[in-house]
Amino acid sequence: MAKYKIALMPGDGIGNDVMDAAKIVLDKIALDAEYVPADIGWEFWRTEGEPLPQRTLDTLKECDCALFAAITSKPKEEAEAELVPELQGKGLVYRSPIVRLRQTFDLYINLRPCKAFKGNPLNFQEGIDMVVFRENTQGLYAGVEFHPLPDEVRAALKAHNPRMGAFDGVDGGDIALSTRIFTRQGCRRIVRAAFEHAAKFGYPTVTLVEKPNVIRETSGLMVREARKISEEYPNIELWETNIDAMAMWMVKNPENYGVMVSSNMFGDIVSDLAAQLVGGLGFAASGNIGDNMAVFEPTHGSAPKYAGKYVVNPTAMLLAVKLMLDWLGENDTARALEGAIAEVIAEGKVRTYDLGGDSGTLDMARAVAERL
Ligand code: NAI
Ligand code: MG
Repeated sequence: MAKYKIALMPGDGIGNDVMDAAKIVLDKIALDAEYVPADIGWEFWRTEGEPLPQRTLDTLKECDCALFAAITSKPKEEAEAELVPELQGKGLVYRSPIVRLRQTFDLYINLRPCKAFKGNPLNFQEGIDMVVFRENTQGLYAGVEFHPLPDEVRAALKAHNPRMGAFDGVDGGDIALSTRIFTRQGCRRIVRAAFEHAAKFGYPTVTLVEKPNVIRETSGLMVREARKISEEYPNIELWETNIDAMAMWMVKNPENYGVMVSSNMFGDIVSDLAAQLVGGLGFAASGNIGDNMAVFEPTHGSAPKYAGKYVVNPTAMLLAVKLMLDWLGENDTARALEGAIAEVIAEGKVRTYDLGGDSGTLDMARAVAERL
């Protein structure tokens, strides 16, 4: 039996192109692993009414982790219209498979490293090396939302907080409410993951990105828990910052920041900003990590107009492989892979279109594999 069992979920569009690139590198690495293909994406929504079939969840339960590439998703009406005729009118509702994976496997960490590779013409600035830890299951994306606002909810809010009275004259049908739910455990585990990463990889600081002066209860809880946890790491300094100011600092002095930690929505925003500083979608990879399962992916989508053309940049996908290797504890192989990617970028001979070249997706993957 192989040491690892890893699910491969190419998904839709360029997901297939970049997964083929990943396979070239995985072949070269020759990890002691069994790779299991698994279905996910638009095609399965269309033909089965389920973009994440139960058989895929069953496969994932037997795997150590998964590599996922990209899927297509579309708004409600379009999604319904594209179902095969037999499935139409049955009230099927499209749900994001990624969000479902995060919830099903409690993948509470969204890890997004953003490193400026030397010689990447898309770098905003050289010397950037940020790693964002975004809470992945709670906060504003927990899905507890109301519109219209039910009378009972309004009454309960008013009974416990007089500020709700400010909306007394507004009809419930004209009020939308999205809740931001943090738990102490949720704050603690994401902050701890950030400190552990800083300790393991030698970062001197952890920057907490919240807004406790205004969002007192949720951001406040996160700050208080972060302060407690930071006491266990005397060699790592906790920097407390506000999300709005951070957006400016990250552009002004991006080299000052290393490990950053934030809640779901702020972390989402900060990680996209960080990714663009180091080349954008072709370079952004992330890990969705829980205690026993993880799914690694490039951040980009299925880019339908490039699907099957094998022209997009495979770097984001290859960096997802690198994150997976680190998570599996194959740190030397991970470092070698990152080194090979860095060399190919620095040399600048094999470049996809986004980098100003005309090499293909698989050419770039082969160039990386040759250096391993
Ligand atoms: P997208 O990320 O698919 O592509 C936007 C543009 O970014 C592309 O047209 C291309 O110019 C560029 N791009 C993306 N990946 C690239 C790469 N590896 N190399 C070079 N250039 C690259 O976003 P878009 O067009 O908004 O969405 C297309 C579909 O993907 C939609 O159905 C959307 O819902 C879905 N999507 C899926 C995601 C996922 O699977 N995690 C994430 C984002 C969007
Ligand atoms: Mg995002």
